[in-house]
Amino acid sequence: MEVVGSRVPLTKAGREHKACCPFHSEKTASFWVSPEKQFYHCFGCGAHGTALRFLMEYDHMSFPEAVEDLAGRLGLTVPHEGGGAAAADNQHAVLYELMGRVASFYADALSRDARATEYVRRRGLSTETIERFSLGYAPDAWNAVLSRFGAREADRHALATTGLIIERADKRGDRHYDRFRDRIMFPIRDSRGRVIAFGGRVLDRGEPKYLNSPETPLFHKGRELYGLYESRTSGAGLKRLMVVEGYMDAVRLHQAGITYAVATLGTATTAEHLKRIFRLVREVVFAFDGDRAGRAAAWRALQHALPEAREGREIRFLFLPEGEDPDSLVGAEGRAAFEQRLDGALPLSEYLVGELSTQMDIAHADGRARLAEAARPLVAQIPPGVYRELLIGRVAEVVRLPAARLEALWQDASGSTGSPVVATPTPTPARTVRSAGRGSLVRQAIARLVRFPAIAAAVTPAERRGLEGCTEPGADLLCALLDDLRERPLQISAQVIERWRDRPGGEHLGRLLEREAVLDDAGATAIELRAALEKLAGLSAEHRLRALEAESRVRPLSGEEMKEFQMLMSKRSVRDEKT
Ligand code: UTP
Ligand code: MN
Repeated sequence: MEVVGSRVPLTKAGREHKACCPFHSEKTASFWVSPEKQFYHCFGCGAHGTALRFLMEYDHMSFPEAVEDLAGRLGLTVPHEGGGAAAADNQHAVLYELMGRVASFYADALSRDARATEYVRRRGLSTETIERFSLGYAPDAWNAVLSRFGAREADRHALATTGLIIERADKRGDRHYDRFRDRIMFPIRDSRGRVIAFGGRVLDRGEPKYLNSPETPLFHKGRELYGLYESRTSGAGLKRLMVVEGYMDAVRLHQAGITYAVATLGTATTAEHLKRIFRLVREVVFAFDGDRAGRAAAWRALQHALPEAREGREIRFLFLPEGEDPDSLVGAEGRAAFEQRLDGALPLSEYLVGELSTQMDIAHADGRARLAEAARPLVAQIPPGVYRELLIGRVAEVVRLPAARLEALWQDASGSTGSPVVATPTPTPARTVRSAGRGSLVRQAIARLVRFPAIAAAVTPAERRGLEGCTEPGADLLCALLDDLRERPLQISAQVIERWRDRPGGEHLGRLLEREAVLDDAGATAIELRAALEKLAGLSAEHRLRALEAESRVRPLSGEEMKEFQMLMSKRSVRDEKT
């Protein structure tokens, strides 16, 4: 992705990116890159392959060169025959070393600059803290780093690679200038303590308040946590980590003696962050501002934390009073009081249930049903186990259903994504619908139609068209039923079964109706039916896409096929955005 993106101007199209194909001349974009699959593909000329292939084709690299280049980007070392360090490793060593020297330069500049020193003092930072975090100052000049570290072309190249200098777009005159100017510098270290990036804060007002290094071969923002190295090496045994939002927060907490604080780098907490954290400790507390933005960030963190939740791990959420951040609070009240707040942080389960309860009115059955519906996809992300069972129990308590009954409802609903578990559930005997198989989506749709034939009228022409070309077993019966019911509407199940007695597939209808769990509410069932149809349409579109993709590997697609492909792709992006 980075490999292709740095050479071909890509535009985002849903999950993929597209561009005009660099391997043949064309006016409309038919060159697709899938970051997920790490693959590129041109539907015009059939060119396709991995990043490796791309480097070989586009940059005319040899295979070993391409391997080296890629490995370098990933921070890996390629073992060479006859021993010796790989070229990529050497190149990286140069970059790490350069970052270290620049960090020292910034640190030195801080001690020499009265205004910058005055600023960090005003923010309450001690000399010890400044040294521990190697804080610095980027001088107010366009070429402080450039002139000092960029004498040779190779040096400038290294500076540009680490994002310390920027190349002018017009390339006239002095081609480069310093990225960080007149800012307090926070070096970001990797797990081995090497400086891999910087965050820089303006001294007064100015935009942006914080400027960060771009993504570089050394630095991937969504993976790093500021202060993690300092936390690990603080001397106090690391038992838990507290994740805060700001550089300054992490630094001030450490200074106050809370040496287990780390900060995300202006991004949401990612699943990768969580994995890293749980490799080190079993307890994590997220601290967020109490305002709306903080609550939104907390909810995102919760979503990423779910797949990592399990017994033996503790994930909690701390909400600070409005207008305060950890920096201001720990400054005002000190370590002991702040840690007392931590003890009161909400466990993930309580936060999840509590947040949903404030969104839905659980005094009413209706609100409780919606709560159950909203909790389902969240709980589904937790790996099966004791922790998940406990959380299901907690949700069941709030929605006032026996846990087993709640689980059964969730299971019934899980075949049709997005379909709500609606209405006040009327107790029905537990069924053995195991859900989720692909065929079962069709079965569920048919059963709903037979149970409430009138809901065929709720299906839109677009939803009906989505079923064209659907290859799921039973899809033709479903289509025939839909068309027939729209043309000659019926009201009750018995009429449907009667009319289909001698038609193909008719013999299944009665049995399906018996076996599938259908809610006792026509409105809710209509919603479920349409959700199932939408899901089916998505499946057949995916099939068709894959077929076209396969075709284009053996021959160029026709104009018609290209159009169809692009249409399917754009629909897929719409689907992705909805989920
Ligand atoms: P805050 O604005 O809350 O910063 O942004 P802060 O750490 O409390 O800063 P002070 O106290 O005003 O100095 C939180 C984090 O969001 C990222 C930074 O990582 C920052 O620490 N951020 C914020 C940016 O990347 N860019 C910005 O312009 C602002
Ligand atoms: Mn702050």
